[in-house]
Amino acid sequence: MKTLVLNGPNLNRLGKREPAIYGSQTLADLADLCVTAGRELGLDVDFRQTNHEGELLEWLHEAADAEYPVVLNAAAWTHTSVAIGDACAQLTAPLVEVHLSNVHKREAFRHHSYVSAHAVGVIAGLGPSGYTAALHFLSEQHGISQH
Ligand code: DQA
Repeated sequence: MKTLVLNGPNLNRLGKREPAIYGSQTLADLADLCVTAGRELGLDVDFRQTNHEGELLEWLHEAADAEYPVVLNAAAWTHTSVAIGDACAQLTAPLVEVHLSNVHKREAFRHHSYVSAHAVGVIAGLGPSGYTAALHFLSEQHGISQH
């Protein structure tokens, strides 16, 4: 089952960006982890990152039209973008919101998410393991819906 793993702004800087918060793994490492985990779970993971909000909107529209499940780390847009929230509202397959850091331990402006209301669940603070946990969940959901 094709599954989109979508990442928002500044996540291309992983590895160099505030490693005490975001860890030392690069975006390429995270992509490899997700693709490999997906393969083991029977998910065809399409891993993407963008620094352009319109591009993320179009990927969410693609997921809505194709009914793809989505793992989304919208990064800073999580906290700022009504448009990203509105695009998430159009998804029909499960959406899991992921953050590498525990946003609830951080600044107050990171505590609100425009994505969460449209997600089946939210994983924050588990680093890259949060992505694989989300993929595990989505593969289980797919198994259940096939029976
Ligand atoms: C983030 C948390 C956001 O608050 C921040 O703006 C990011 C990354 C995370 O993965 O922990 O860019 O989504």
